Amino acid sequence: MNKEEIEAKFEEIYQTKPDKAFFSPGRINLIGEHTDYNGGHVFPCAITLGTWGAARKRDDQKLHFYSGNFEDLGIIEVDLNNLKYSKADNWTNYAKGMIFYIQKAGYQVDRGMDIYIWGNLPQGGSGLSSSASIEMLFGVMVEKLFDLQIDRLDLVKMGVKTENEFLGLSSGILDQFAVGMSKKNQAILLDTNTLDYKYVPLDLKDNVIVIMNTNKPRALVESKYNERVEECQVALKALQTKLDIQALGELNNEQFDEYTYLLSDNETYLKRARHAVSENQRCIRGEAALEKGDLKEFGRLQNASHVSLEYDYEVTGKELDTLAHEAWKQPGVLGARMCGAGFGGSGIALVQKDQVEAFKANVGKVYEEKIGYAPRFFTAEVADGTHEL
Ligand code: GLA
Repeated sequence: MNKEEIEAKFEEIYQTKPDKAFFSPGRINLIGEHTDYNGGHVFPCAITLGTWGAARKRDDQKLHFYSGNFEDLGIIEVDLNNLKYSKADNWTNYAKGMIFYIQKAGYQVDRGMDIYIWGNLPQGGSGLSSSASIEMLFGVMVEKLFDLQIDRLDLVKMGVKTENEFLGLSSGILDQFAVGMSKKNQAILLDTNTLDYKYVPLDLKDNVIVIMNTNKPRALVESKYNERVEECQVALKALQTKLDIQALGELNNEQFDEYTYLLSDNETYLKRARHAVSENQRCIRGEAALEKGDLKEFGRLQNASHVSLEYDYEVTGKELDTLAHEAWKQPGVLGARMCGAGFGGSGIALVQKDQVEAFKANVGKVYEEKIGYAPRFFTAEVADGTHEL
């Protein structure tokens, strides 16, 4: 899809030309999973798979939404003055949330819009952040159409609010930050405690990142996700009886170790906290390894990340485990792990370029035998964050 194509799609539906067109990427997280609501680090980058959109201002107060991915839903009409969550309004809730928070921040969005979107991220819990991709698409779309000049980080925070308050998912800032702030061929090391960040050139030498999508039908990710957030909060509270900390991400492995006795009467809390602390340390070490060009160490840390997510955090499941475990056995693989919230969705593997075809064939074959259907593979190309085309 490109600018001309998305504009032509818009014209087919609305019989007129759009004012502007946009692209918003998906994201992968190289390492640092389930750390962003624990005050830890994350290390994501945006990818060229994502969501395209075209829009035009209307003279009235109606929002008309059309998705090329859900043609059977037709045009969904929403009143600009009634931006409440409604299950029946389907995916447009992401847009409604964004417009709601933009208005709430004092920006004037006083006219309706005709909107067309289409995306090529796998649907339904892909682990590649299709929801943040849509949120940031609408954020930037409204910003540009109404010439609001909103600070990008503020838009990112409105995306998080849309998830947390509008949709009720207690997620952190990883997805919206990665989608909204990324730069081509660079990853971002973000400290979610301070929001300090730095761009890191992604030099993978003779290797590529292969995205491994489980194709698992949408799991009940939301409730399990919120459960993990709560478990970490309980563990933090117990540690705070002796430690002066605000977040698990403030601890290194040694400090945590000395205080694990405070969690010893509940193995679940101990394991959740151990993951949050150790994953943050792996993320910091992983970024350093990548910067010094030690891809082998980086890969080993990715593997360790998966193991911790499998045994301590328990968010993988047989689909993601099969992908990671089979990936580890393949020649030319430096590292592999699940990516995103887990329970389904996608994993990533760092694979030597000349081994990619064999990798896909071998991992795909075993996965299909064990799981009963095939996974999907994509080669990740690292993209710019949400922008006007
Ligand atoms: C989801 C959430 C993110 C983050 C990841 C796990 O993608 O939206 O905020 O917590 O899971 O790292």
